[in-house]
Amino acid sequence: MCGIVGYVGQKQAAPILLHGLGKLEYRGYDSAGLAVREGEEITVVKAKGRLAELSNKTADGQAVPGNCGIGHTRWATHGEPSEINAHPHVSDGNFVVGVHNGIIENYQELREKLLNHGYKFYSQTDTEVAVKLVDYYYKKYLGTPIDAINHAQVRIRGSYALALMFKDYPNEIYAARKDSPMIIGTTEDGSFLGSDVPAILNYTRNVYYVGDMEVARLTASDVTFFNLDGDQIEKEQKVIEWDAESAEKGGFEHFMMKEIHEQPKAVQDTLSAYLKDGHADLSAAELDTEILKNIERMYIVACGSAYHVGMVGKYVIESMADIPVEVDLASEFRYRDPKLVKNSIVIIISQSGETADSLAALRLAKKKGIPTLAIVNVVGSSIARDADHVMYTYAGPEISVATTKAYSAQLIAVDLIALAAAAAKEVISDEREAELVKALQALPEQIEKVIENKERLQWFTSKFANEKDAFFIGRGIDYAIGLEGSLKMKEISYIHSEAYAAGELKHGTISLIEEGTLVIGIMTQDALFEKTRSNMVEVKSRGAYLMALTENGHYSIEDTADFVVYIPKTEPYFAPSLAVIPLQLMGYYLSLARGLDVDKPRNLAKSVTVE
Ligand code: F6R
Repeated sequence: MCGIVGYVGQKQAAPILLHGLGKLEYRGYDSAGLAVREGEEITVVKAKGRLAELSNKTADGQAVPGNCGIGHTRWATHGEPSEINAHPHVSDGNFVVGVHNGIIENYQELREKLLNHGYKFYSQTDTEVAVKLVDYYYKKYLGTPIDAINHAQVRIRGSYALALMFKDYPNEIYAARKDSPMIIGTTEDGSFLGSDVPAILNYTRNVYYVGDMEVARLTASDVTFFNLDGDQIEKEQKVIEWDAESAEKGGFEHFMMKEIHEQPKAVQDTLSAYLKDGHADLSAAELDTEILKNIERMYIVACGSAYHVGMVGKYVIESMADIPVEVDLASEFRYRDPKLVKNSIVIIISQSGETADSLAALRLAKKKGIPTLAIVNVVGSSIARDADHVMYTYAGPEISVATTKAYSAQLIAVDLIALAAAAAKEVISDEREAELVKALQALPEQIEKVIENKERLQWFTSKFANEKDAFFIGRGIDYAIGLEGSLKMKEISYIHSEAYAAGELKHGTISLIEEGTLVIGIMTQDALFEKTRSNMVEVKSRGAYLMALTENGHYSIEDTADFVVYIPKTEPYFAPSLAVIPLQLMGYYLSLARGLDVDKPRNLAKSVTVE
């Protein structure tokens, strides 16, 4: 939620800030702003709406001179999207200028305190409170910016990534964070700051991750870090492996379509990282046979699509490895005082590694003394850093707000966990293990084949561009796939859709079926095929228009369904990796046919760092 950038160096800052904000627009896009400093002068420019408005207002940054600046693209939390609420916010006289990502929970209390000390507020944001709190401590103790920020950090509750400039300290940017992402990049002629890797990838791959409640001071030539006591600390520089090109559209009209096409590679790269000599090998996550053998229960906790991966994981792990699995939404898990049994593991799944609820769930599990495993895509993210074990997915940077390739890589991660645990517990034979590994290895090519048929889906989908509702039905793993298909459809096409366990329809939802209502039956599991077919016949007799999604060979479904999409045959466990592709494409084409912003659907943000 919200993206922040900063630059201090030899070059003109504003164009660099705008470029970085462009890469972070997926994090929020209801308003944007920047502050650039030239000598004593600090210029602040803000605009409501997309980043293009800010670019126009600043002549692509050329109209704002200076070599040191900070910028922000906003996803509103406190206060409506407006120019006044857009960042940067400033203290009177521009003593302190700041941008912020996150939520300051006690901002009302801090606001009251500052009002009592004569401060005035012009916006409804918690950010203005943070900036003025720093200003207050700066003036009260007459110390350094580091002291002032640290005093403020001690008082602020909530999550934040702050980038600040101080009038008295030209050519310096200060940064601090707690539970919101921030990275700092260095080059020979300047220092960069961003909420996420794509913001700085064009300039450098050498980065530092700012730790919770640490402060960084950026100058043109170096970056220095301080702890909460104000003491200087050493940090290790890391190298980002992602290349800049993989964060660009590469000839596709939208990031989402590009990322759909990158799924064979995401799956292949994730498989390659954990398949060694024909076995699932989780030693990179420090999970050896001994640890896996002793796990008696797994808890999978995640949000949104990652939660849907968890739903698939439950079916796969329980059946393949004979381990009971509970799946929870992170926002529920963290507040329900979960009873976690001994010899268990909590698995947090998150693309960004920054989702606030998932991070809180991870910390709760750790507090309860249960080992944690994070399945994460973004290297060095908060969840990756806090978890006891980390299994990275290798999807590369995902820019489109609606996840596709990260979801597919997460599916592979849970499949590999199931396989590794099944082998460790010796509940599958060597022959069976070999068959499963072979099926996993075939997936990248099979996904490629499914994508090749996209035109047929485009033709079909465009007929439903004006649909009001759609229903996805399936049983078992197919129900879990339906959940993801339904989310893909509604989040980017704004068509209301729901996923139902096919057997549940008769308990209420079937009354919503009218003449022509689109019902998508997912039928990849042989054992449940006929059961779901019966449910499809039930809705058809009430007027539904039926699409079936099934494996090659189930041609008899053409007697029941109006339109059929076939996917290649695979092991039933791995069918989600193939079946999700047509559903992602349907969401994409519906959004396109309705003329919507595919990559940046309304009200959403890629990284949900607020609860
Ligand atoms: C939907 C989508 C979201 C995310 C969810 C969790 O397309 O992308 O539902 O899956 O916000 O995000 P991460 O995986 O970053 O924790």
